[in-house]
Amino acid sequence: MAGAAVTEFEASGEAGWEAGTEISAASTARGTTVRYMPGGEPVRVGRPLVIAIDGPSGSGKSSVSKEVARRLRLAYLDTGAMYRAVTWDCLDRELDLGDSALVEASARALDLELSTSAELEYVAVRGNDVTAAIREPHISASVSAVATNLGVRDELIRRQRALIAAHGRRMVVEGRDITTVVARDAEVRLLLTASEEARLRRRGLQLGGTQSAEELVQQVVERDARDSTVASFTQAADGVYTVDSSDLDFEETVSAVLDVVQAAVGRPAGA
Ligand code: DC
Repeated sequence: MAGAAVTEFEASGEAGWEAGTEISAASTARGTTVRYMPGGEPVRVGRPLVIAIDGPSGSGKSSVSKEVARRLRLAYLDTGAMYRAVTWDCLDRELDLGDSALVEASARALDLELSTSAELEYVAVRGNDVTAAIREPHISASVSAVATNLGVRDELIRRQRALIAAHGRRMVVEGRDITTVVARDAEVRLLLTASEEARLRRRGLQLGGTQSAEELVQQVVERDARDSTVASFTQAADGVYTVDSSDLDFEETVSAVLDVVQAAVGRPAGA
């Protein structure tokens, strides 16, 4: 990140942004402010390349998506972080997550700033840096209540589509409903899966071995079961490629995803 120019602009949903163009906007009132560092030598210069990646918790989705964005010099959007940011905002203001109209209104008014660069992890709500806070266990435990609110989904999907458009449709977007709802028209759509055993093992390692087996099951299996009620991410929809990472290490998984990109767009897929 050192020395890189940070571009900030408001994602209004208007196209017209080109790689390397700096657009600044002071207002964050209705949308999402973005920190984005344009990278050099992109693939498919000037042409859209949206890579939609869905998958359950512990499939390696975030780290693999980030690395793919880095190698292909694409922007990166972690949509789960947006659901986590709404959850943080509601809990910080001590709102009842069961009050769906209030939670939806909070999402619609959310003053959110986030990084769309794979090189920089940054999320702010109302000017508070919540990058670390949104990963805390109490947020993970509550986020499904927010993610299953259909009004919240409607608003975040609107913002996500605006962000994709604002980046000239050159972005890796990861989540649970990206291949099926948010970016059904993506150039590449991919489901990253892994066996339950592999997913529990990975999430356990990620959390530094601090969680009991029961806590892990709660955080991985039970949360996915709740989230599955509003988004379908366990079976690939028509036209969606599947990569099963159960027996692949990180590098092999990244390669498998780059192979899918190559197969889908018919061009060499980056470094
Ligand atoms: O990927 P994650 O654990 O950071 O996601 C946080 C929560 O948001 C999780 O409960 C699933 C939900 N989510 C969703 O419903 N739709 C998305 N596109 C992304 C995440």
